[in-house]
Amino acid sequence: MTPKKPKVYNQAWAGYYDMWGKTESPWRPNKNDIAFCEKMIKDILKKEKSPKALIFGSTPEIRDLLAKYEIETTVVDVNPTMKKAMDKLMKRKNPKEKLTIDNWLSVKLPEEYFDLVFSDGPLCNIALNTWVKFINNINGSLKKEGLFYLAAWVYQIRNPWRFGDLIAKYKKDPAYFKDFKNRIWSLHRLYQEPGLYNRKKKEFYFKGITKGLEELIRKGVINKIDFGKLQWMKDEDMSSYVEIAFDNIRENDNFLRQFYTIKEIYTDRSHPIMAFRRDYVLKKK
Ligand SMILES: C[S@@+](CC[C@H](N)C(=O)[O-])C[C@H]1O[C@@H](n2cnc3c(N)ncnc32)[C@H](O)[C@@H]1O
Repeated sequence: MTPKKPKVYNQAWAGYYDMWGKTESPWRPNKNDIAFCEKMIKDILKKEKSPKALIFGSTPEIRDLLAKYEIETTVVDVNPTMKKAMDKLMKRKNPKEKLTIDNWLSVKLPEEYFDLVFSDGPLCNIALNTWVKFINNINGSLKKEGLFYLAAWVYQIRNPWRFGDLIAKYKKDPAYFKDFKNRIWSLHRLYQEPGLYNRKKKEFYFKGITKGLEELIRKGVINKIDFGKLQWMKDEDMSSYVEIAFDNIRENDNFLRQFYTIKEIYTDRSHPIMAFRRDYVLKKK
């Protein structure tokens, strides 16, 4: 008997699922962020019995929430494997959800059709010079009275670290770095180290962290085990990851005010890294 061929499965799919499954707030909405979204849905439901929703991204927590209210939902994501992976993280099924595989920047959407639009941290995935295009695309499809939930990251850090501060903390209190939030907070505090944050492009390069830590291995300050413990995602190579975000809250708010009236803002401050996340309810101008 010929042995069964080993099962082939899509590595990228598994990788995205595993990675996102291990990520926490602020990179995924927590229950407070979802409560904030739910309030916005309830406000719309008072006026519109069968609202139409659009999600840019595949955020499982928001799709679960829309499934709870059985809201007709269009999900737009460029990456079908990511969408499938996010399905695995969902708790409900929405028979009224449909997927469009397309780019947020070029997808053709019906005009002034949606009552609710959601996007969880989309801007950190697209270049700064495409943000206006992204917004115009959303606004074209959003009804005049519709609401847009946007989660945005802002790297406003008052007490930055150098690599030396990171290592001093690690040597003194290695257990601190077991917590995902402490780890990513510590790494983002390095943003003033050369090569980590490009203020003009508003880009944060994870390869700068990897490079800095590798340099410390070469110098014998840390070893490879320490390196693994200090990574953003433990044991995951995140060096190709780039995040785009303003480093100033006012700048971020003012950028949005060009296009929207800000109806509400929510920021969970239970951990310093949480303050990176600003949840907005926006109404187009
Ligand atoms: C880092 S993942 C995080 C998941 C994201 N927070 C969400 O909830 O969907 C970013 C997601 O945005 C999608 N994405 C990034 N840029 C995109 C674009 N220009 N058009 C459509 N989808 C995009 C990716 O395929 C992926 O699903």
